[in-house]
Amino acid sequence: MITRFALALGVSVVALAAAGPAPADAVSRPWMDVSLSPDARASAVLKEMSRDEKLVLVFGYFSSTDKGRNYSPPAGARPGAAGYVAGVPRLGIPPQWQTDAGIGVATQGAAQQKRERTALPSGMGTAATWNPDLAYKGGAMIGSEARSSGFNVMLAGGVDLVREPRNGRNFEYGGEDPLLAGTMVGAQIAGIQSNRIVSTVKHYALNDQETGRGILDARIDPDQARMSDLLAFEFAIERSSPGSVMCAYNQVNGAHACENDWLLNQVLKRDWGFRGYVMSDWGATHSTERSVNAGLDQDSGFPFDKEPYFGAPLKAAVAAGRVSQQRLDDMARRILRSMFAVGAIDQEVVPGPIDFAAHAAVTRADAEQAAVLLKNRDSILPLGPDVRSIVVIGSHADKGVLSGGGSSQTYPAGGNAVPGLQPTGWPGPVVYYPSSPLDAIRALAPNAKVIFVDGSDPAEAARAAAGADVALVFANQWASESIDVPLTLADNQDALIEAVAAANKRSVVVLETGGPVLMPWLDRVSAVLEIWYPGTSGGGAVANLLFGRINPSGRLPVTFPRDLVQLPRLALDGVGLPEGQVFTVDYSEGATVGYKWFDAKNLQPLFPFGHGLSYTSFGYEGLKAVSANGGLTVSFRVRNTGAARGMGVPQVYVSPAGGAGWEAPKRLGGFSKVDLAPGAETVVSVKVDPRLLAVFRSGAWRIAGGSYKVMLGASSRDIRQSISVTVPARTLPVTYRP
Ligand code: BGC
Repeated sequence: MITRFALALGVSVVALAAAGPAPADAVSRPWMDVSLSPDARASAVLKEMSRDEKLVLVFGYFSSTDKGRNYSPPAGARPGAAGYVAGVPRLGIPPQWQTDAGIGVATQGAAQQKRERTALPSGMGTAATWNPDLAYKGGAMIGSEARSSGFNVMLAGGVDLVREPRNGRNFEYGGEDPLLAGTMVGAQIAGIQSNRIVSTVKHYALNDQETGRGILDARIDPDQARMSDLLAFEFAIERSSPGSVMCAYNQVNGAHACENDWLLNQVLKRDWGFRGYVMSDWGATHSTERSVNAGLDQDSGFPFDKEPYFGAPLKAAVAAGRVSQQRLDDMARRILRSMFAVGAIDQEVVPGPIDFAAHAAVTRADAEQAAVLLKNRDSILPLGPDVRSIVVIGSHADKGVLSGGGSSQTYPAGGNAVPGLQPTGWPGPVVYYPSSPLDAIRALAPNAKVIFVDGSDPAEAARAAAGADVALVFANQWASESIDVPLTLADNQDALIEAVAAANKRSVVVLETGGPVLMPWLDRVSAVLEIWYPGTSGGGAVANLLFGRINPSGRLPVTFPRDLVQLPRLALDGVGLPEGQVFTVDYSEGATVGYKWFDAKNLQPLFPFGHGLSYTSFGYEGLKAVSANGGLTVSFRVRNTGAARGMGVPQVYVSPAGGAGWEAPKRLGGFSKVDLAPGAETVVSVKVDPRLLAVFRSGAWRIAGGSYKVMLGASSRDIRQSISVTVPARTLPVTYRP
């Protein structure tokens, strides 16, 4: 059986036990003085620590049993969780109990007993809300469940850019644009940490495909990386000060991410001034002193690595002077500092009750704003009270809604609504949350005849659809960690949709996907609603959207291509290579990612970045841009010009008049989400981060002086107004902070 440790070798546990507790009054504890800074507190406790105790803090264990390798986690670990790092009880330093992650409190697959917790929509879904307040609330909710479940570290905050739409983990991330992804994921991290627990941001960096993730070498021009993938991390980090950064499995420009001096020591710690700690992804450490000296502070998830690199080997490296004592101190200090900074030491985590009803409302609000109405011919949606017969087809819509797989899998109260689907082992199981769209649709259409057809036979589905007022076809793409996914829907679903659309021209497709998919049937269907993986309350949310109880307000955080030939890479690199063969992925497109690529190459996408329809309409007017004191402020009016209440997402794009060495014709410079009653109007003002006007070159952000075009649009391809503004030349140091 394939397990997530398939590549790791069996090794015995090398534990460095913390010294037993001393009498409580043996040491006075100035570090518990909350009036001191986190740095002062970390330094104070560090002074009291032995070398062995420091070594304990930097060495993490997998927290689940792994029968295959005869591994049991240390006593004190929370069962079925991602990680455990022992504490130093004699000094009042608690263990670090680490849980996955981005949509809720996960359970590792092998665990018999699943934690049943509230799940948010996928990260991509939350990004599609374009609503940082909602992302913060969602983060606060799952962080509170983490705390109530006994965890003080949440391994959330996935912000790798969608460079590769087939990446099986895109659903965990925040889309293709550094500003949108950094803003949304940063808000979620801040929400998580508001519970006085640490969150990570991950996977640093360029873990942009799963095929060969442990060995591939992502090649990219370092300056272009600063303007794309790294900028997403930079934005997320400065918006949320995550306690930890998780370095990735892959190599970047010839060195593994967790032993990459450029990524860790230079960019993260020196240039961005990151004060927290770097933890490795599970099995992403490949060395002792090379990693430590390159900036890795904590080794995670023993026994995922081929051999233990921290613990005894690190102790020996310090003793031999291959790693300095000062560096070991720095590693431990960074961990302690983050724990003090968030409050994880002052407020112990204690398992406690969870308000599931309140949390269901939080995730439902997220799902309702995440859904993107891609197409709505003749305003077939929302469904009205006159609908008498509805056929619901496919995707187990009678039972529940799909979720993404892998380590982030969060299990729902009530269990998997559709157990037994393949793969049942890693990276599965495939989990449906028991929130039935069919039941919710029936509840909103009490006078209609609503039937369900499972969709396994297109001809049968077409017959059922033929006489109905409307056919709702649910179609899905299951994506997961450790695999990449084709953009073509599996299991004959394209044929199913074609057959239904041929039988009933009032056909609506509801997509549950991790990211973009191809839609060869698009012209034949009336409407398409993309609901991503909508989380615990997804069934109710989709019914509310279909019936207009909620007006769709999601916008695409990612471009939907029309065809694979439009992508920078026709095929995924590394497919079909012998296991273990190292290969490069050449990101020669540099920062020209997503819509920037489509704009630069003048390609017509299926649906552009930023696109999303509403049951009302919005007018955008009065665009102004003021460049003053080194900043660019853009303001405009948004008006609800339709008949329904709704939320618009005005988007500001910027571009230098002459190109000025930019990677693309335009960049997203700012956005806002506004809720307006029919006829109502509001004035919006957004500040454009100067880095988004700059090119990163020779170690600095350089803004070329001159004329810039400021565009106001409803999507990256629906620009409603544009003006010019003169911006003075400016150079921002690499350490620039807004
Ligand atoms: C994943 C991480 C996760 C870790 C712990 C790894 O396989 O890449 O995202 O946090 O496992 O479960």
